[in-house]
Amino acid sequence: MHTHRINEHVTILADPAPLPGLGFLAVNAFVLHAEEPVVIDTGLSLPDKDFVTDLSAVIDPTDVRWIWLTHPDRDHTGGLFALLEAAPQARLVTTFGGVGIMSTERPLPLDRVYLLNPGQSLSVGDRSLHAFRPPLFDSPATVGFYDDRSGIVFSSDCFGAPVATMELAVGADAAEIPADELRGGQLLWAAVDSPWIHNIDTSRYLETVRAVQTLEPDLILSSHLPPATNTATLFDNVAEAPNAEPFVGPDQQALEQLLASFEPPAAEARQQAEPVG
Ligand SMILES: [Fe+2]
Ligand SMILES: [Fe+2]
Repeated sequence: MHTHRINEHVTILADPAPLPGLGFLAVNAFVLHAEEPVVIDTGLSLPDKDFVTDLSAVIDPTDVRWIWLTHPDRDHTGGLFALLEAAPQARLVTTFGGVGIMSTERPLPLDRVYLLNPGQSLSVGDRSLHAFRPPLFDSPATVGFYDDRSGIVFSSDCFGAPVATMELAVGADAAEIPADELRGGQLLWAAVDSPWIHNIDTSRYLETVRAVQTLEPDLILSSHLPPATNTATLFDNVAEAPNAEPFVGPDQQALEQLLASFEPPAAEARQQAEPVG
């Protein structure tokens, strides 16, 4: 976990993951240092991860007042139940659908839940967080928000991009990614994560892009991209998403080639295992 405070408002907890054949994908959670502190998403669900311990280096979990789950995918929910235990003051901000999806793993304590829909706002003391549905999303429960004090948009999966190296995935600014690579990565991610983009009314889709652009954010914090000050570029790239090349994943033949490339053939393995003499 790479943890750093990016400005007076936000600390990023970055834990990028390799995407086989595609590069490296940022996986970011955030702490918003509001008067009522907010944790946005809770990291990967892998068994060697300990989100609450990583978070404790940033903020005392007992001070956390809100956990904003942008959507219940497993790269966002890793530390959720542990954090609910460690942060007894915190309410979980999600949607009716988010509660339903999470309850297929473990029931959520409904008295800890705060249901918030796109178009609604949440006061966290010194600022209000304005919820919206990002233009690109992979879950019906996805809700991002605009922080009207810091001018930051938290966009969930939207605006993400796999990049060539781990260093770029944990970079200080998405502007460090070469423009062509950023554009290609964003279009690829749009096709991978939101394949419905190829089957929709483009003009209505572009209205959803413009709705977020109208907020004129100073910074975009995506779950799957380094912090981005080059916001105009990001909006231009997602506006092109309907024209992205549709993504088709590797098939069984490709998987078998991959397995053969790093496993000794079965006969050879047997030979190696046979005792000599
Ligand atoms: Fe997702
Ligand atoms: Fe995600």
